[in-house]
This record gives sequence, structure tokens and C-alpha cells, in this order.
Amino acid sequence: MNNPNPVIPLFDLNYGSEEEEATLRVLRSKWLTMGPETEALEYEFAEYLKVKHALAVSSCTTALHLANLAVGVKQGTEVICPSLTFVATSNSVIYAGGTPVFADITSTGDWTISPNEIKKKININTRAIIVMHYGGFACQMDEILNIAKTNNIQVIEDAAHCPGSTYKGKKLGSFGDISCFSFYSNKNISTGEGGIICTNNDDYANYIRKIRSHGMTSATLDRHYGHAYSYDVTVLGYNYRIDEIHAALARCQLKKLETGNERRRLAATRYKDALSKIDKIKFPFDNYCFPANYHIFPIILDESIDRHSLMVFLREKGIQTSIHYPPIHKFSYYRTILGDQILHNTNFATRHELTLPMYPSITDDQIDYVVDALINFIYGK
Ligand SMILES: Cc1ncc(COP(=O)(O)O)c(C=O)c1O
Repeated sequence: MNNPNPVIPLFDLNYGSEEEEATLRVLRSKWLTMGPETEALEYEFAEYLKVKHALAVSSCTTALHLANLAVGVKQGTEVICPSLTFVATSNSVIYAGGTPVFADITSTGDWTISPNEIKKKININTRAIIVMHYGGFACQMDEILNIAKTNNIQVIEDAAHCPGSTYKGKKLGSFGDISCFSFYSNKNISTGEGGIICTNNDDYANYIRKIRSHGMTSATLDRHYGHAYSYDVTVLGYNYRIDEIHAALARCQLKKLETGNERRRLAATRYKDALSKIDKIKFPFDNYCFPANYHIFPIILDESIDRHSLMVFLREKGIQTSIHYPPIHKFSYYRTILGDQILHNTNFATRHELTLPMYPSITDDQIDYVVDALINFIYGK
């Protein structure tokens, strides 16, 4: 049976004629991969983030793989990361030959990796820490960078959630040794697939530039322009390149990022004002005081609420919801390779979290409709 209610998706693209024109521009240029759009994107992104190097790639997953390789993750090394994240975060460690070691999140209210738990997991084999700024809320970067420095280990920021978020006046993704952004369909910069790696380290940048394209010493565009006639392969590389259409779309989306994030913040305020009257709903990061980009809008449901029934109820009303995340340490593959792990706060978050619709064009009426539906389910009104 068709649902008579308007569908409120979890996420909606912020696309318009700019993206159409950008796509046509690339098609008409007849240059489809690693060309002027990619170069311009890399320049613009580096400027935006205030970092030395930005290198566009095919996804955040491939970016994370390259980041692990660049900082020297290999067999016998360990990388500390959260379990409350998308599985690509820890998979990337395994691609590089390393072992992910999960550290719990800080508390039932701060869902970013705990500096104290990181300290407990460090040993002689630890090569890096991957932090993930959940929902666009910053990890405790001062403490984490301090721990890393003291122990001579590298920090990789999984920045998939946080384009445009700032922490103490500086953009997230510019704190660690390397950061990895995603341009996946539902991200604040959405192109379908795509990603970008940022670093201030020249050696990492040179290495990543090479291994994202088969380990070759010259780029396709350089050979096309006659700047280089041949190439050597000096290291095992991959084809992790971005193409020109995705790069052009990312450029349009980058221009819209700030206004899009501002509209998300307004939407978050409206949600919070209305939902704070419901005693069975709480918010993670409730006292957070930096500008977040509200990549998602997570809420914490009271123990008495059956999340699955609520999600079905909302779906019947045309409202799409999700869960961020099923924790990685509970996936069968990870239980097989790492055994059972005890992460109390991660387990709490993952049991009680519900993600409500959030995107720049969400309207006040849509937010009110979602809030009414929640009240309806919880209090039967
Ligand atoms: C936290 C996190 N890390 C990594 C990824 C992987 O991104 P991509 O789909 O661009 O490979 C995602 C995407 O959903 C993510 O949310």
C-alpha cells in the first residue's frame, strides 16, 4: 500500500543547476579523470581547510587506506580507533596489514574516542590513532595530540562526518597528521563517491600522490601536456583516483558547505527546542560549545522505548530514520579476528541511538511533523 504521507528522508541532496552545469562542463571538456577540475578542487579544499596539501581520491575508504600506509601501518603494528564508527575506519587498518584496537568512547554523552581509553591501549606496537568526529562533533583533540606526541605515534582524522565543523577556531580535519574526508552521497559534501586526503606533511603528500595512481612517478595530465614522457613505478600503488565529474561536483558542493551547515544548525536548534520537552529523549553532546556541522541528528532514547517499533512507526508515517552505528566490535568478522571486546559506553550509545532526518533543505514543518510523530509514539497522543 502506498504511504499517503509525505516522505521525509534521512538525507536529501543539496543539488541544483550548479551541479548540472558542472557535469556538462566536464563532459564538454572531454577530459574525464585527474585533470583541471581535480587540480582546482585540491587547491580550493586546501585553501578552505588551511592545510598545505589536499589530494582527491575515489572515496574516504581509499583515503584511509592510503593514510594508514603513509604513516607506516603494516603487519605487526596496531592502530587505536573507535568502534562507534563506520566499518571503513577499522577496515582500512587491516587493508594496510595492521591490527585495529578499539578504544571506548568518552561517556554516555560524549560519543568520541576517549583519551583515557587510548592511553590504556598504547603499547610498543602502536603506530597510530584514528579519531572520528562523530556527527561533526570534535574529539578531544588537545589531549589526543598530546598523547600522540608523548608516545611518538601518528594521528589520522577520519573526517567523513565533519566538513565545516570547527574546534577552538580551527577546522576539523586540520588537526592530525593526515585527515580523510568522504564525498559519499549522504555526506555534507555529496558527489556519490569520492574523497580527499589532507596533510601538512610534504613526505606524506608525495607518497600519497604516487600510490593513489599505481605508484607511478608522473601524472596522466603531465604526460598529456608533454611535461613528462614516461614514468617509473617506485612503490606498489593502486588506482584510487577521483574522476573529473566527481571533482567538479565536489567543487560546487564545497561552495555550498557553509550555508548548508548553517541551515543544519538552525534545524538542529528547532529539533532540540521541541524535543527537550520529551523526558524520554536526550541528546548526545548536549553541552557541546563549538560550531558543529550536524552531519546527522542523533538522539538518545530512554530504555523504556522499543527502538525497532518506533522506527517502524515512523516509517509508516513516511519518516526515514537510521542507527549510527552498529558497533564494529560486534560484527561477526571482527569477533572472529579480535575476539569479544568490552566497550560499555559504545554499547550504550549503539543501543539507545536513533538518527532523525537532517539535511540543509529540511523545513520547519517537516521537523515539527517528525517531533509530533515521536510524541505520538511515546505518549500515544
Ligand atoms: C565515519 C566514516 N568513515 C568512513 C566512511 C567511508 O566513506 P566512503 O563511503 O567515502 O568510502 C564513512 C562513510 O559512510 C563514514 O561515515
